[in-house]
Amino acid sequence: MCGIVAYTGKKREIVPTLLDALVRLEYRGYDSAGIAVSCPDGIEILKTSGKVKALQEKVSSDWKEKVKDAVAGIAHTRWATHGPPTEINAHPHTDEKKNFALVHNGIIDNYSAIKERLQAKGVKFSSETDTEALAHLIAECYMGDLCNAVAAALKQVTGTFGIAVISRDSPGVIVAARKGSPIVIGVGEDEAFVASDVSPLLPYTKRVIYLNDNDIAVVRPDRIDIRNMDNIPVSREVAHIGWDIKAAEKGGHEHFMIKEIFEQPEAIANALRGRMDTELGTSKLDGLNFSETDVAGISRIIIAACGTSLHAGMLGEYFFEDLANIPVEVDQAAEFRYRNPIIQKGTLALAISQSGETADTLAAVREAKLKGAIVASICNVVGSTIARETGRGVYLHAGPEIGVASTKAFTCEVAILLLMALKFGRAARLSRQSGFALISEIEKASGLVKNVIDGAQKIEKIARKYARARDFFFIGRGYLYPVALEGALKLKEISYIHAEGYHAAELKHGPIALLDENVPVVVMANDLPGKDKIIGNLQECRARKAPVIAIVTEGDKDAKKYSDDFIEIPRASDFVTPLPTVVALQLFAYYTARERGCSIDQPRNLAKSVTVE
Ligand code: G6P
Repeated sequence: MCGIVAYTGKKREIVPTLLDALVRLEYRGYDSAGIAVSCPDGIEILKTSGKVKALQEKVSSDWKEKVKDAVAGIAHTRWATHGPPTEINAHPHTDEKKNFALVHNGIIDNYSAIKERLQAKGVKFSSETDTEALAHLIAECYMGDLCNAVAAALKQVTGTFGIAVISRDSPGVIVAARKGSPIVIGVGEDEAFVASDVSPLLPYTKRVIYLNDNDIAVVRPDRIDIRNMDNIPVSREVAHIGWDIKAAEKGGHEHFMIKEIFEQPEAIANALRGRMDTELGTSKLDGLNFSETDVAGISRIIIAACGTSLHAGMLGEYFFEDLANIPVEVDQAAEFRYRNPIIQKGTLALAISQSGETADTLAAVREAKLKGAIVASICNVVGSTIARETGRGVYLHAGPEIGVASTKAFTCEVAILLLMALKFGRAARLSRQSGFALISEIEKASGLVKNVIDGAQKIEKIARKYARARDFFFIGRGYLYPVALEGALKLKEISYIHAEGYHAAELKHGPIALLDENVPVVVMANDLPGKDKIIGNLQECRARKAPVIAIVTEGDKDAKKYSDDFIEIPRASDFVTPLPTVVALQLFAYYTARERGCSIDQPRNLAKSVTVE
């Protein structure tokens, strides 16, 4: 949720390096920010409410001069949980004497009890955060060794954390630890970094170490020691980040979101590359590590995910049922975790997550494992917690997704689900010929999406026309029902227009009461089975004077007639049509938000990766 970055070494100017890294992390949280550096005379701190830009502006030349001999530093961009996004609540937090400074992602569940106990001893707190309690606790546990003090403090807390700590006594040393919130160490030559994800590290190093839960690391420029909380050394291998720095920059686009929408033809091609077996008419998904017999043994699939990934999962349900004849349930991940799901022999629990760090999805994976399910995942971020804990799965290879509203991850998740369903289908009732036919449809996906992107200007024009609406409905059926949900989610996330996605048949069971001439309805009226019914639903909207924007297949002759505006999507099979269709809705949401002057890449109150429940 929040972003952490820390640096130790003398190769770079610490303050500009950390501020630059914070900008790259800002997509994770952006309501306040701060930096603390370890200087020969002690720890210096600067914090502000607002975005990283405000922090950059606050760094005066005097302050820079004061901290010029700094040897290590920690920085943070926050997404508030405990206490509003004020300067005082911004991280880093310190103990009373400023001997320790700490940045933290996650939530300390028992912070009130710790706070009360320490306050009774006379310790003064200055913020409303849970994190400050941990800073005071580290000070209380300190007996001369920073790592031991951090470990002792962490043993007393419940909840989740990814932290980086510096101390007055050990300049040049950063202690980092994780439980439930990711921490990655960037390994350089005579320098080292700590971060909450790899994106801020890309300009500096591609060699990283992912900490496991309950690892604690002592990071120095030339040495990294990792142990568990019981002080037993553990060894973690150095991994190589495959992402290119350019992938995490805007590359001339106004926003990451539009860059990522435009990247989709390539992202989908990357997700599919080398994964279709044109000889056997199936797919090759080695990371799943399932033999044909394993696949044949899967009798039920439970998909757990959140947000956009949940909508991808809903499409997965159609794919697996239609192609592989396997019953599927799709669960909002938190619901899966708390409703005591039934797992039988042969149940596959499939987690879908762009970040691979979403707290509820991760908890669902753990619950499913505990109950004896076979677990697998579809993730974008390589080495992410969900990918590692499931042990088997498929990476999207979509490249970094920085815009908070997920776009290319969605289409790649759908493409991978289609490949999985093909594989499972071929191990069941799907014939080789049907496998070939499906592969040739899937191969068209990237080109179909490109076609929609080429027509972006027309979508922009329509978006401008409706940009002042206060409410929107998106309706669809069958394969386009999850697409309608996703279209509504995109619009509300970035334009702040109230938008609801509904099954077209459900509209008349309540929501239709809200329709009038001020409430546009986006109707998925593509040429897919059920089109006659959706045209009926479209007419129901028109009869209530609601303006209708129809999504139609190129060459359509009927749905267009009844709509105020229409967006054409190239003709494709049922399975593939959701991809170009959702891209049109992404563009619609983007141009609407742009017309309204919204903060598109960092919408209010949202975070890219939700690592709290
Ligand atoms: C957050 C993001 C959404 C995303 C959801 C699930 O809410 O703002 O865009 O869809 O988390 O994220 P995941 O990384 O698990 O796909």
